[in-house]
Amino acid sequence: MTKRIVIAPGDGIGQEVTPVAAQALEILHPDWTYIPVVLGYECYQKTGNPLSDNVLQIMKESDAILFGAITTPPSKDYESILLRIRKELNLYANIRPIQAPGIDITIVRENTEGLYSGIEWREKDRACTVRVVSEAGTRRIIRHAVELAKRRRRHLTIGTKANVLASDAYFYEIALDEISKTEPIVHTMKYIDALVLDVIQHPTQYDVIVTTNMFGDILSDAAAYLCGGLGMLPSANIGSSQHSLFEPVHGSAPDIAGTNRANPVAAIRSAALLMQHLGDSQGAVYLETAIQNTWKAGLKTQDLGGNASTTEFSNEFLNQLSVFVQ
Ligand code: IPM
Ligand code: MG
Repeated sequence: MTKRIVIAPGDGIGQEVTPVAAQALEILHPDWTYIPVVLGYECYQKTGNPLSDNVLQIMKESDAILFGAITTPPSKDYESILLRIRKELNLYANIRPIQAPGIDITIVRENTEGLYSGIEWREKDRACTVRVVSEAGTRRIIRHAVELAKRRRRHLTIGTKANVLASDAYFYEIALDEISKTEPIVHTMKYIDALVLDVIQHPTQYDVIVTTNMFGDILSDAAAYLCGGLGMLPSANIGSSQHSLFEPVHGSAPDIAGTNRANPVAAIRSAALLMQHLGDSQGAVYLETAIQNTWKAGLKTQDLGGNASTTEFSNEFLNQLSVFVQ
């Protein structure tokens, strides 16, 4: 049956790296329907609205969304549409795989509450953000992480600041209760600050790590260091409904946008997660193999020490990919 895939490049380098990932999907799945949409800050500057109801509706009616990146200026009046999309589509689990030789970690980040719950306000001389940790929100993310750990090396690390935050003491309490309901897995709790350092120092010791929203945001950027930087890291935003969203962990990178220097690997790997999610694991393997073959052919972008432009890397990658569909 055909799948409906929304393609949302967004802003900045999102517009440079998403097309090749989308083309790769089209090469492997000409049977799927692709629906390009315009959203983000540039869209806001042109139309006054970064995310129209129509685009949101198209996303809700899709099977998956391939997302690029969007610019979110720091402003009290401009809400991050990415956070809004995650909430509107109820994409409560943000899955970030960190893979490199000898390293295989999956970060499971709670994606709809915590410090990004959107409950915040300004007063005369201070600003407040409410950190929400709900029982239901915690149970579902822990269940997700536990199920994942069971299919992997059965080890779960829970990252918290339960020693100082009541909301995290609660997260840990609920986590223990949820874990007690399932068949045994090994689990440990580590304070998030120490955890970030330890993941960098001893990455091979970690399997699945589950944590709250902002801790997971920070941990995953730090852990990107282990696999060559942010240009390499994909993510899957998964929820209870059918439409999941796949995006590189990097942002719109205004500093290099428009210079044809961005590394499209994170975007292509996001397309690979999308394929896996829709049941085509073989397609995901083709994408990764074509990435590896492109590197072997000597094309690396600047963040990896090479001198290939985004376009040069993308063209060779598509060339390598076409081998699999002849
Ligand atoms: C990420 C990004 C986003 C987040 C921003 C852009 C809202 O940093 O996906 O990690 O904080 O989740
Ligand atoms: Mg981030």
